[in-house]
Amino acid sequence: MSITSFESPDGSRPKITTVTIQEKKLQREPISCLTAYDYATARLVDEAGIDMILVGDSLAMVVLGYENTLPVTVDEMVHHTRAARRAVKRALLIADMPFASYHVSPKESLRNAARFIKEGGAEAVKIEGGEKRRELIERLLDAEIPVMGHIGLTPQSLHKMGGFKVQGKTLPAVEQLMRDAIALDRAGVFSIVLEGMPREVAAMITAEVSAPTIGIGAGPDCDGQVLVFHDLVNLSFVPPAKFVRRYGDAAALISNAVRAFKADVVSGAYPSDDESYHLPKETQAALEMIAERRRAMAKP
Ligand code: KIV
Repeated sequence: MSITSFESPDGSRPKITTVTIQEKKLQREPISCLTAYDYATARLVDEAGIDMILVGDSLAMVVLGYENTLPVTVDEMVHHTRAARRAVKRALLIADMPFASYHVSPKESLRNAARFIKEGGAEAVKIEGGEKRRELIERLLDAEIPVMGHIGLTPQSLHKMGGFKVQGKTLPAVEQLMRDAIALDRAGVFSIVLEGMPREVAAMITAEVSAPTIGIGAGPDCDGQVLVFHDLVNLSFVPPAKFVRRYGDAAALISNAVRAFKADVVSGAYPSDDESYHLPKETQAALEMIAERRRAMAKP
């Protein structure tokens, strides 16, 4: 069956693919990316025209309430990827492989990655780590699974890093980051997330690799930027990191709406007659007639 189509179903906005993302770097067009983990937010993010939607393992913290990203499972990530899939029409949908899902045997890592494509409907997976992921990336690409790399402050390495710390501050650390980025590029990733590193380092990597770099806390010289949706709209319940810019206050919006609902329920102002269903006139008349008869029969 021929299914060559680069148009979205309504023909208006072209579907973003891994190729589009790579072309954007060549055209020097900035790439936008946000996380989303459910139908409603993924739909809003997609309709706003964001290029890539990442079902990030940050959902462990911002949706499931864990302290870090380590506990979230493949089953949970696939569940959320499926919800986002139902909403996303145009953006490239990427699923984050959670901790310990690709650190296992090559066979199991491949099987886990394939679940995100087959069951979740993702178009690519993201894995954390540099040089040491080279073989795995080649294996995934052999299985036709596009891969996004992720280096710098990699939250799944929390314990090894001794906390969420900006990486690449010393010369050896900068050299290691550069080696990692080049290894990912050569392995064939379609893009690389650069997280938590000095902007100068991110700029050097961006100039060096052919894969588009997507920064988060890595300064303005990357090929694109990604933020966690909940940080963007003040729903993450933690003091924002230096790089987070809050574009809206969903916490205040939701909180005010919920408080107003409660006040109206308590005062009886909700629901009003206009917000209630009513009987059809004939049924109402019939009911009144029955009540009238009962009253007449009850008279001595
Ligand atoms: O899980 C996530 O949200 C991420 C982004 C911060 C890149 O990995």
